[in-house]
Amino acid sequence: MIAKTESVAVVGMDGHAVDVEVAVAQGLPAFTIVGLPDPSIQEARERVRAAIQSSSETWPLKRVTVNLSPAHLRKAGSSFDLAMALGVLVAEKRIQPDRLRNVCVLGELSLDGGVRRIRGVLPAAIAAAEAGARAVMVPTENAAEASLVSGLEVLPVAHLAQAIRFLRGEGDVDAVNGQARTAENGTGLDLSDVRGNVVAKRALVIAAAGGHNLLMVGSPGGGKTMLARRLPDILPPMSEQESFEVTRVASIAGLLPDGGSLVAHRPFRAPHHSASMTGLIGGGSGVPHPGEVTLAHRGVLFLDEFAEFRRETLQALRQPLEDGIIRIVRARSSVTYPARFQLIAAANPCPCGYDGDEVKGCSCLPGPKDNYKSRLRGPVIDRIDLQCTVARIKRKELFELPAGETSEAVAGQVAAARERQGLRYGRRGPRSNADVPPREIDKACRLQTAARSTVEAAIERQSLSARGAHRVIRVARTIADLGAVDEVTRDHVEEALDYRVSHSAT
Ligand SMILES: Nc1ncnc2c1ncn2[C@@H]1O[C@H](COP(=O)(O)OP(=O)(O)OP(=O)(O)O)[C@@H](O)[C@H]1O
Ligand SMILES: [Mg+2]
Repeated sequence: MIAKTESVAVVGMDGHAVDVEVAVAQGLPAFTIVGLPDPSIQEARERVRAAIQSSSETWPLKRVTVNLSPAHLRKAGSSFDLAMALGVLVAEKRIQPDRLRNVCVLGELSLDGGVRRIRGVLPAAIAAAEAGARAVMVPTENAAEASLVSGLEVLPVAHLAQAIRFLRGEGDVDAVNGQARTAENGTGLDLSDVRGNVVAKRALVIAAAGGHNLLMVGSPGGGKTMLARRLPDILPPMSEQESFEVTRVASIAGLLPDGGSLVAHRPFRAPHHSASMTGLIGGGSGVPHPGEVTLAHRGVLFLDEFAEFRRETLQALRQPLEDGIIRIVRARSSVTYPARFQLIAAANPCPCGYDGDEVKGCSCLPGPKDNYKSRLRGPVIDRIDLQCTVARIKRKELFELPAGETSEAVAGQVAAARERQGLRYGRRGPRSNADVPPREIDKACRLQTAARSTVEAAIERQSLSARGAHRVIRVARTIADLGAVDEVTRDHVEEALDYRVSHSAT
């Protein structure tokens, strides 16, 4: 007899329905898996066989063939284990297929029959619902995640034996129905912890208000990392749609906590400068996996010690910075991951770190220093609207300076500025000032005459390139939005012109 169980393969961000067909025939005992499976799936044979035996069932001494269909879809991972094991038992007529009808089965098996958590249950459950499944059988630890999909009954199982008993009508599972809860997990860091650093803080607020990328340059211990880590809490809250996207990415990356529910907090990712290209943008051998740019989707990608990142790695950031996606192309297939993040870069001004420092002198030789500074130019820096210097505060000031505004207060200002942008651009327009394309800048960011003259004068002095002018105007627009002003004035432009520290013609 041929048994058929339903499952899902997750490729990139999406799930695709897969039929797991199992044929058990007389012949020399063998266990074969066909249907373009990745080598990782071949290991399933050992797990499935041992798990069935551990569940007080006998393994058929016959020819067992599993076909994963459609064959053109490359399948990897361990999530078909449970579907295969149940398929074998149905083919052997040891369980009736009725209770498996329209049930999508997902789960990895351990040798003792335990059902282990897997990655990508959220997109898999979405695909199952779209393919007409009425229920999804998942590892207990993935149940909360699956329950985020409405209209789908969730059947959590912890052990293969439990699944078998349930399908025989001898036992029950604790069915879960649509329990979308929201996980609150703010950073717990507050902007008022940062004393002084008025200019850098202001730049951070402008970056948050307009969605601008930001570069902070300053001596060690100046508070750059401290500031960057406080950005997610002042950004506007995610919409439901954004939350869902972030949760989907976390599900695929296996980063959803147990009892995983909708992620409400914007991600903050800070990859080390030694991160590989694959780690940063995604890919890898076998089935591609998402990289840091995708894990930072709808949140913050913080590149600390920016000048230490390899040039090729930084080059690869161009596509996500421009298009908000990353496409990973392979010989047989390509996958596209979302990667719409806000970039915060931090760097010391020179190799020793003290160029321009008020207290300590710079000890760098000119050659290495020039080489280092050249790393603070280039295609990624060109896409950063705001740049600021972060000066070290004096030890005395640490205790004397007032605490300043809290993250909560600043978040309110940021939200108000974003609301103004939302009203101006509408639902179909740019999401924030940073996203206004060059051809729309004139219309979207109206400058008063004096403001325009200030920009033109800067261009004439050759301290501003055409692209740089666009960046300055976008930032000036955000400054005006923070002040709840309709037209961009000279003051706004002058402040925006201050947020440039790179010595190239920006
Ligand atoms: N403005 C500040 N207010 C309060 N504490 C500060 C401030 N600046 C620095 N500190 C203290 O100094 C520590 C180091 O700051 P931080 O790591 O943010 O510096 P950095 O600029 O990132 O340095 P590096 O260039 O070495 O990475 C902080 O953990 C904090 O305790
Ligand atoms: Mg730092």
